Amino acid sequence: MAELSGLKKKALTDIAAAADLEALEGVRVGYLGRKGEVTEILRSLKDVPLEERRRKGPEANALRKDITAALEARMNELKKGASAVARFDVTKPGHRPLRGHLHPLTKLEDEVRRIFASMNFSVVEGPEVESARYNFDALNIPANHPARDMWDTFWLTNDKTRRESSAIGHDLLLRTHTSPMQVRYMETHEPPFQIIVPGRVFRYEATDASHQFNFYQVEGLMVGPDVTLANFKFVIEKFYEKLFGSGIEFRFRPSFFPFTEPSVEVDIKLKGGKWLEMMGAGMVNRNVFDAVRYNPDKVQGFAFGMGLDRLAMVKYGIPDIRLLYSGDVRFTRQF
Ligand code: PHE
Repeated sequence: MAELSGLKKKALTDIAAAADLEALEGVRVGYLGRKGEVTEILRSLKDVPLEERRRKGPEANALRKDITAALEARMNELKKGASAVARFDVTKPGHRPLRGHLHPLTKLEDEVRRIFASMNFSVVEGPEVESARYNFDALNIPANHPARDMWDTFWLTNDKTRRESSAIGHDLLLRTHTSPMQVRYMETHEPPFQIIVPGRVFRYEATDASHQFNFYQVEGLMVGPDVTLANFKFVIEKFYEKLFGSGIEFRFRPSFFPFTEPSVEVDIKLKGGKWLEMMGAGMVNRNVFDAVRYNPDKVQGFAFGMGLDRLAMVKYGIPDIRLLYSGDVRFTRQF
């Protein structure tokens, strides 16, 4: 008995230590081969007394079974390892796992937020569904005034309800610009302050390479006792420097917006020498201050509204605005 269990221990150790199939075969022959240790024991049983044979026989058979099973298990192990090594080509280039990442517009908006925050601007956001009062009336764009034609609007009310509510500006629309947040912010805060308002806006118009029915803007508003257009020029110059690096050329062009007076448009010079319109801006119109109950003789300020998509197209060299909304990962993956 002791002899057999000692033999079993030794056999299992040898099997586990066999480093390859050849060594394992050697181990097998050593125990179970024609002259193997276990084979010898089984053979010798025929010469021992009946009593002892009855006792030892089943033990020896069990030992042979255990060793056979262990040999088989080890053999499978070694085979698997061998084929894994054969399949693994260390010289092949690896697979790059696909990772999610931010949309270029999100990345750019983050950067714009950071730049203005570094100049002490607060970042606020407003609703995409607006009332006509905030989107138009309080911004010096009265109902039925031709200035409303500057913004092709998605109205959320039908003709009948619009007729009934338009007199008080309660009808709903998808905001056509981020400017309504100028009004919302001034209604609830006292100057001096400086804010930016990033957000999505909507225009009821056909799409082409430079137009979308929804896009993104960043509104800016700075109000205080003595804020001037010179302050605006400084802020926007610093902004472009931080975004594009120094050496970017820009110009102010006279323009018109109902909520600013005077109004300008800001163009930047592209690499090829062409001027590209980047934003509308100006000094806040007195009528807007009246609408939010500020005293226009005590405060003044500048406002601007820039298209984020336009900025992304210039910064990343994107030729068609529709690519930004295509949902095509081959496009977004590049940023
Ligand atoms: N809201 C204007 C637009 O969308 C841009 C603008 C904002 C102009 C602020 C002047 C001041 O066209």
